[in-house]
Amino acid sequence: MSVTVRVPAKVNVQLAVGAARPDGFHDLANVFLAVGLHDEVTATPSPDGLRITCDGPDAGQVPLDRTNLAARAALALAERYGRDADVHLHIAKDIPVAGGMAGGSADGAGALLACDALWGTGASREELLDICAELGSDVPFSLVGGAALGTGRGERLTELEVGGTFHWVFAMASRGLSTPAVFREFDRLGEGREIPEPVASRDLLDALAKGDPDALAATVSNDLQPAALSLFPELADTLAAGRAAGALASLVSGSGPTTAFLARDAGAADAVAGALRSSGTCRTVRAAAGPVPGATVIREEPDQ
Ligand code: C5P
Repeated sequence: MSVTVRVPAKVNVQLAVGAARPDGFHDLANVFLAVGLHDEVTATPSPDGLRITCDGPDAGQVPLDRTNLAARAALALAERYGRDADVHLHIAKDIPVAGGMAGGSADGAGALLACDALWGTGASREELLDICAELGSDVPFSLVGGAALGTGRGERLTELEVGGTFHWVFAMASRGLSTPAVFREFDRLGEGREIPEPVASRDLLDALAKGDPDALAATVSNDLQPAALSLFPELADTLAAGRAAGALASLVSGSGPTTAFLARDAGAADAVAGALRSSGTCRTVRAAAGPVPGATVIREEPDQ
């Protein structure tokens, strides 16, 4: 048998970051929105033990060893249920790698759900969410999807109401940014300054609930943006190109370097995407709308 799970990318419409904690992580008020760019993870029994393969435009940058979150998810589930992680995980990758869109986290959540279905472990949703939180701060959201507020290090989720579909354009950069490096730069830039407790913006949550793109555009924010720009100054040109093309809002997605542009509707998103493509300030451009569901089993096939 084989099981295929589809998992969305995310954009952070608000990312409020507190001071570094003693464990090195940062408390966050992280408002996630799942958007329609997806990876697919297929799990198939593998008599030779755990194996990872990957295809897609960025596949060359994906680690195929046990540092891959998909491998770690399979190993964590196998350990919990006292079995071997004898599985081949194939990742069909469409989410940019090291882009600030939770592509690695998506593969972790996807592998977990696929192995769970393949092995028939019967794990509860809470157990799966616990394993996701162990794997990484963004992994629980990849499982849940939709829209959610993440607190703690981002792993404690409260699902949010969204009153409409938001249309986005994403500009992928010529290289990646390391999330720990961006957080370290955030700490460096904030040295000697009082960092306030991160709090979700009431106006932003209202804008999401109403499905109002103008109100959302007025309230989006990302505390990691100055750090991402400091490490990758050319991103300022991409942000300016999107604004000039009529985007309602432009911001760095998560720790970057993908930049995100909010448009009023699908037609406006196409126009912004076209202008960004011809601006020469990014590698590729994709339009995607959200919210969309989290990790979902889309195929279960018996042995051939
Ligand atoms: O949880 P995850 O493995 O995705 O985090 C990657 C890195 O990002 C952490 O090692 C840490 O440097 C940084 N991080 C952080 N605070 C968070 C989430 C991530 O400092 N809330």
